[in-house]
Amino acid sequence: MNNGRFTLLKTNEEVKKRITELAAEISRDYAGTPEDNPLLVLCTLRGAIFFSADLIRGLTVPCEINFLKVQSYQGTRPAGSPIFELGERIDVRGRDVLIVEDIVDTGQTMDTVMQNFSDKGANSIRIATMLDKPSRRYEHLKETVVPDYIGFEIPDLFVVGWGLDYNEDYRMLPDIMVYHPEEDTES
Ligand code: IMP
Repeated sequence: MNNGRFTLLKTNEEVKKRITELAAEISRDYAGTPEDNPLLVLCTLRGAIFFSADLIRGLTVPCEINFLKVQSYQGTRPAGSPIFELGERIDVRGRDVLIVEDIVDTGQTMDTVMQNFSDKGANSIRIATMLDKPSRRYEHLKETVVPDYIGFEIPDLFVVGWGLDYNEDYRMLPDIMVYHPEEDTES
């Protein structure tokens, strides 16, 4: 167990309030979505589970829910080649797709997902992210990976809570906290 130092970034109440606003905005933007071709909302596992649960419950348009798992770094696979673990078989042809992400950092994960779905003929693809760290975006993705719905834009900080983890710890923290791992102590 890591015992780094935490500082509060966003309270649970602030996050919930912002999600309510985002859900209203998304519902307005997708008003008129037909029942027979609902908005396809894809929650990225595992970090976006809490954010997407609250966001989806606030939507007032017809929607279908599914899950994506994208692994950015695995074994010897070089950074920059995120791979789909789940999601390859989701049929997005002709669908309006809303990807729900916990945090957009370098942008390579969302770039991979959007390219994949675009190749498969999605009608439209948008991103809703709880947090965005634009200062970390890879230069070549600055123009293309621009989330449509952003809970909070944050500086280059490592954050945990509300689904976000540090080595699988702290996902369940109710607030969004900045984590300072350099101050870890063994317990
Ligand atoms: P990207 O491909 O660099 O945009 O990475 C996005 C993924 O990196 C997110 O879905 C998170 O899993 C992880 N990530 C990036 N920044 C943080 C952070 O501050 N805390 C926890 N996970 C993060």
